[in-house]
Amino acid sequence: MKICTVVGARPQFVKAAPLSRALRERNTEILIHTGQHYDHAMSDVFFEELGIPTPEHHLGIGGGSHGAQTGAMLAKIEDVLLAERPDAVLVYGDTNSTLAGALAAVKLHIPVAHVEAGLRSYDRRMPEEVNRVLADSISEWLFVPSEGSVENLRKEGVTKGVVVVGDVMIDALRINTPRALVTSKVRATLGLDGAPYYLATIHRPSNSDVRENLVSIFDAFKAIEKKVVFPVHPRTRANLARMNVQAPTNVQLVEPLGYLDMLAAVKGASGVMTDSGGLQKEAYYLQVPCITLRETTEWVETVDSGWNVLTGPDTAAIVAAVRKFETRPASHPELFGDGHAAERIVSHLEKCLSAGISNFGPIRRTS
Ligand code: UD1
Repeated sequence: MKICTVVGARPQFVKAAPLSRALRERNTEILIHTGQHYDHAMSDVFFEELGIPTPEHHLGIGGGSHGAQTGAMLAKIEDVLLAERPDAVLVYGDTNSTLAGALAAVKLHIPVAHVEAGLRSYDRRMPEEVNRVLADSISEWLFVPSEGSVENLRKEGVTKGVVVVGDVMIDALRINTPRALVTSKVRATLGLDGAPYYLATIHRPSNSDVRENLVSIFDAFKAIEKKVVFPVHPRTRANLARMNVQAPTNVQLVEPLGYLDMLAAVKGASGVMTDSGGLQKEAYYLQVPCITLRETTEWVETVDSGWNVLTGPDTAAIVAAVRKFETRPASHPELFGDGHAAERIVSHLEKCLSAGISNFGPIRRTS
């Protein structure tokens, strides 16, 4: 079998690492990097640290408006797929690279495997939610992380091709957390040893493009009166300068962290404050409370478990959540699988593709 994998943005590199390894062992993967993320700190460092092979095709698309960026990806991915003629195309998550990869493939009648399918925040103002719904609706195989995602898809009438495999980000965490805790020097480099600190990230347009929301979040960080380490995404850094928003003095602005440094920094933190999706899961896995600076989340299980609170950018709500998490929840159930999702995905695809069959049958559960 020959599979073309499409990646482009930081969280996809993390998700691709365990699966690329399993596919390469079978000599079956062609990797396409759209170039959505291109800085060393947003892209190359993940390939280096996680041992992801150099992409066979780098499309160099870069930033742009949603339409321009997605359209440019669509055209270039189509060219690659016509040249490579894979048996299937694999896409991850919910970015513009996900949608472009899935759409280019399905138009060429190449079946699509969507990893991290079935997630819903039910907030269509999020570009990621639109990407999720569209990618799911045109995918042949929907590899979902949990039963909650099965239910989300069922509500939309999607039951065929759904396979519960667990979450590939948990695979990556299982493999890399011990290594990160031994090798990362981030706590010394950033002066984090000794006093409690919080870790923050902000990059969603709903926060980072809106001055009053950035100010409101910073007001909360100031009120916490502890150090807040804030690795700054390029879009947020540009917006802070453009909108003339100053961080309070207890906030330490740093460059984006690599994967291993991020895990080590999260593990040592009193709490994480973020509008990222993946970081909510990483904080949960590492048993660190998460305050999500959004009104909605697709990772509802982390909220139900008591380890995650949704505050949006509201100053008082963020401060209240920080106080609440001075006592951590007592229980920590296993969510999103056992860290062996990649093996399940590869063996399922192998079985379907070698038999030459469509996967459109009843839901198959692997647990
Ligand atoms: C994208 C994803 C989001 C994901 C996030 C992870 C979409 C719709 N959004 O958002 O779901 O959580 O990645 O970080 O696909 N930029 C740089 N250097 C880079 C990358 C980006 O300067 O290496 C700039 C771009 O030029 C652009 C801005 O940052 O101006 C936004 O980048 P983009 O990749 O389009 O979206 P993200 O906000 O990162």
